[in-house]
This record gives sequence, C-alpha cells and structure tokens, in this order.
Amino acid sequence: MRLKDKVAIITGAGSGLGKAGALRFAEEGAKVVIADYDSKAGQEVEKEIKEAGGEAFFVEVDVSNWLQVQDMVDKTVKKYETIDILINNAGVTQDSFLVKMSQEQWDTVIDINLKGVFNCTKAVASLMMDKGEGKIINTSSVVGEQGNVGQTNYSATKAGVIGMTKTWAKELGFKGINVNAVAPGYIMTEMVAKVPDKILEKLKSKVPFGKLGEPKDIANAYLYLASSESDYCNGTILDVNGGISL
Ligand code: CAA
Repeated sequence: MRLKDKVAIITGAGSGLGKAGALRFAEEGAKVVIADYDSKAGQEVEKEIKEAGGEAFFVEVDVSNWLQVQDMVDKTVKKYETIDILINNAGVTQDSFLVKMSQEQWDTVIDINLKGVFNCTKAVASLMMDKGEGKIINTSSVVGEQGNVGQTNYSATKAGVIGMTKTWAKELGFKGINVNAVAPGYIMTEMVAKVPDKILEKLKSKVPFGKLGEPKDIANAYLYLASSESDYCNGTILDVNGGISL
C-alpha cells in the first residue's frame, strides 16, 4: 500500500499507459481520478477498479480545455478534499511526414499533449503549494529526446514536456512539490499498434531486449515517482525504453 489514501488524478486513464497506472495505483491504495475525454472507456476503468475493491471516480475532461480542467479539479476536491498526485499522461499521435502534416494535425497534438499538461499542472499547482507537498509526473517520450520520422508534432510536445518538467522542478520545488517525468519507449498500446508492422519490426530490433515494453512497465515508473520512495527526485526524466536510446 505505497499510496494509501493518496488522491491521484491520472489524465488519459481510460486506456493504455494511463489505464495501467490507474489500476496499479488503486492496488496500492490510492483514490484514483480517471480523467479522460472518452467517457465509455473511463467509466469502464472506474468499474474495474471498484469491482476489485479499490476507490476510483471518473471525470470527463478534455485536457486542452482550461474550463474543463478547472472543473475536473473542482470535482476532485469536492469528492476527495485534496489532490496529492497528478499524472499528466493524456496524449495523442497524429503521425505524418513534415511536408504532409496539416495545420490541424499540428494543432491537435500541441493542444492535447503540451497545452493539456500546462493546463492540468496550473490547475493543481496552487492547491499543492498551499499544502507544501505534491507529486507531479509528466509523460514525455523517447521521441522527445531523440526525434522520430513522422512525428514533428508529437516529438515537439514531448521535448516541450521535458522543458516544462525541469522548469517546474525549480519553480515548484521551492514549495515542496516534486516534478518529474517518465520517458517511455515503444510500449505495446493501441497508440503503438497503429505503427506499420514493417517500421515496428525495425524499432523492435533497436531495443537490446528485442521486444516492446508493456504498460505495466510505465505504471511501475509512475508508482515510483508518485510514492515517497522518490522524495529526493526532482526534475528527473526517467527513461523506460528497454535501452532503445543507447
Ligand atoms: N524509419 C525508416 N523508414 C521509415 C520510417 C522510419 N521510422 N518511417 C517511414 N519510413 C519509410 C517507409 O518504410 C516507406 O519506405 P518505402 O517507400 O521504401 O516502403 C516510406 O518511408 C514511406 O512510408 P509510408 O508509406 O508509411 O508513408 P505514409 O505517408 O503513408 O506514412 C508515416 C508516413 C505516418 C510517418 C508512417 O510511416 C508511420 O506511421 N511511421 C511510424 C511513425 C512512428 O514511429 N510513430 C510512433 C508512434 S508510437 C509513439 O509515438 C509512442 C511513443 O512515445 C514512442
């Protein structure tokens, strides 16, 4: 019970890495706010956690919308009185070669992956500053560190997330808040399943283990950075990529 009674908002918790994090956090005793714009998926995760004896609560939110994010925070505080942990996990891809990338593809990915992280962190920061503690974990990516063919928009957001993580580690660290990021490699989720097989095989061959990661690998990294075990980590970018970046 490494997160007993801690209140954790996880954005994008309806599927993929966020869902794995939500299930793991609930097992560890957290009260989990499943924040997602897909209400069907989010409600199913809430149900799954409750059926397993955990505590969870679904909030429908588009993280790129400031008013909806404020509403998410208000609903969380109304239900659980506080917020201890924020996992900025929500993210999308709209892959395309630079010359073919539309304005819409650029804007959508920037709005969700970058502005969404700004919105959610801004919305919880004052509350955590008043408490003098809190854990904020952002989801970056190996492609934010290395770039990737077809991901101008996505890699820009994931590099931006690293910049925000380090800035907030300095700015909010003074107030007792830890801000860190996880940078996943290629993890077997619906997002990665969209990559053409031929390209995925090439990527897999670059991992020393020769295989993709699993959502639980990232959920465990989220757990470490959300627990008291990481109390002296601040501004850390935790690579969980099987060594693809070596
Ligand atoms: N490495 C090498 N060659 C590549 C390549 C890559 N990463 N990406 C594309 N190519 C090559 C293709 O093999 C193809 O070559 P051939 O003509 O010789 O067959 C050529 O470029 C054209 O590719 P497509 O036919 O696929 O062109 P498209 O316009 O239909 O699609 C694309 C372009 C959208 C970039 C597509 O190739 C694609 O989806 N690539 C994968 C992008 C990717 O890696 N996304 C990661 C998603 S997972 C994620 O983002 C999570 C995370 O945090 C890591």
